[in-house]
Amino acid sequence: MASMKDLKFIARQLRKPSGDFAGTIAEKMVAANLPLYELMFHNITFRDYDSILEIGFGSGAHFSDLLNMAYDLEICGIDYSPEMTELAKSINKVGLKTGRLKLHTGNSSCLPFQDGSFNTVFCNMVVYFWDDPSEHLGEILRVLKPGGIFYTGMRARESMLQFPFTKFGFNLYSTDEWCAVLQSHGFNVVGDFRKKDPVFDDDGDRVQLESVCIAAQKQG
Ligand SMILES: C[S@@+](CC[C@H](N)C(=O)[O-])C[C@H]1O[C@@H](n2cnc3c(N)ncnc32)[C@H](O)[C@@H]1O
Repeated sequence: MASMKDLKFIARQLRKPSGDFAGTIAEKMVAANLPLYELMFHNITFRDYDSILEIGFGSGAHFSDLLNMAYDLEICGIDYSPEMTELAKSINKVGLKTGRLKLHTGNSSCLPFQDGSFNTVFCNMVVYFWDDPSEHLGEILRVLKPGGIFYTGMRARESMLQFPFTKFGFNLYSTDEWCAVLQSHGFNVVGDFRKKDPVFDDDGDRVQLESVCIAAQKQG
């Protein structure tokens, strides 16, 4: 069984992968969060030439799939872990070379983009780390075009409580609570998609999560 010190370390690494362990945690996130990316990409409305921003892309292993979801998409990613930006750059050389993928190191509380830049903004497994969601949601509203959609990918509180590390620094939400946060910041919740993930073995325990994707629109 993991000690409290280990649990705090894992929680810190999930919040911001860093140092020698960053590559290992990135690999684990790819495996654990693949069902969430599948749900997200199935439910985002992709239109040719759309501009899309992902916040907290982690390894960025999914960008080659994302670039092919419609014709001539323009994809930007921002992650505040320099290690993740470097990893994502190293495995997305082709996308970066075409100019259709741009990756930045930075915090979603201060997005380096002009007002109304994106049709779509999304993030997976990131909102737990926003201690003051207003800072981030305000920035997302600013960079979305009128009528643009912010998709939140997450596992709700009931799923996340299966992992003891979530006691350390995670802001957990039920799906209804997160929808209420979005609405209180001026978004209009327009979609709520959910799917049970495959059962997996977590150090001898059988665990099943539910992936959730909430679509919230900026008023037109
Ligand atoms: C738990 S990982 C999820 C990674 C990936 N989205 C996935 O689902 O596998 C959280 C990621 O979000 C990044 N992150 C957390 N808070 C952030 C913020 N305020 N601004 C930018 N990136 C952030 C972390 O560096 C990390 O790469």
